[in-house]
Amino acid sequence: MSGGAEHEERAYVYMVRCAGGQLYTGWTNDPGARLHAHKTGKGAKATRAMGAKRFAYLERCADKSDALRREAALKKLPKAKKEALCGEWEGKNLPRLSVATRADAADILEIYNWYVLNHTATFQVTPSTLEEYEDWVDNTRKVAPLLLARDAEGKLLGYACAHRWHPREAYDWSVESTIYCAPDARGLGVGTLLYRALLEVLDACGYWNVYALVADPNPASEHIHQRLGFSCVGRTPHTAYKWGWLGLSTWWLALRSGSEKPAPIRLASPEETAAILKKYGSI
Ligand SMILES: CC(C)(COP(=O)(O)OP(=O)(O)OC[C@H]1O[C@@H](n2cnc3c(N)ncnc32)[C@H](O)[C@@H]1OP(=O)(O)O)[C@@H](O)C(=O)NCCC(=O)NCCS
Repeated sequence: MSGGAEHEERAYVYMVRCAGGQLYTGWTNDPGARLHAHKTGKGAKATRAMGAKRFAYLERCADKSDALRREAALKKLPKAKKEALCGEWEGKNLPRLSVATRADAADILEIYNWYVLNHTATFQVTPSTLEEYEDWVDNTRKVAPLLLARDAEGKLLGYACAHRWHPREAYDWSVESTIYCAPDARGLGVGTLLYRALLEVLDACGYWNVYALVADPNPASEHIHQRLGFSCVGRTPHTAYKWGWLGLSTWWLALRSGSEKPAPIRLASPEETAAILKKYGSI
């Protein structure tokens, strides 16, 4: 079981880069939670002493015994070989940001439906169809640019977007954010990169309030919202039933405040969006 309720056992071998450049090798079934434990001094004595910073290498394994075998093999490698593996991995996994079109619906849906079937981050239970998602992409893009992060080979690592918070007109300046990383791309910093870029884009569109609805439990999502300056403004227990009763927390970030009449929302232009994405590494 990973952060949030997850219905798929996974196993990975990893190397974490520490403050002085050292590499720490280990295995885990939840990379995001494991790195967070290392970063907060709860992962291992060595990383507490050396200061864990980020993943330098992550490899999905067939199961726990395979991961343990790979861990032992990586630990035996000379430092130069480990560094070569890390260099190759980092070059491939460096996220490149772009704006989605209808043609990206299938890639987005592949990620989303994985969460529908395997995780409680979404309360949806039945997978969506491609046709539904093509329309979803078109509708989402009317609210704000839909952002994608892809790796060097074009594989989708994650997406971030916004929807109206409420259909009534007076809510025009409030949106609900959505962010999903590919299951194997969690804990790599992709979510932070996408979310920071999305908040800038939403600000450029003139939105005032960003809300996020977070299934309880979902430690990764709660942590990223806290880090980005959101406040938890409400929590309800047994709000939804998916493999068991789940709570829900509501998070809020004010992009601007004041008592003046807000300017009408306008979609950030492709040039404005491209300038924002360029700061975060765009394709
Ligand atoms: C939530 C999510 C978007 C976060 O993105 P991510 O790329 O995995 O997170 P990052 O690597 O950018 O890490 C962001 C912070 O969260 C921490 N974190 C990541 N995974 C964590 C976990 N499982 N438990 C606790 N903290 C975690 C990181 O250590 C980092 O902390 P720091 O900023 O203090 O260093 C991503 O994990 C995801 O897609 N999860 C499933 C879908 C989901 O829950 N979406 C949100 C719905 S509201």
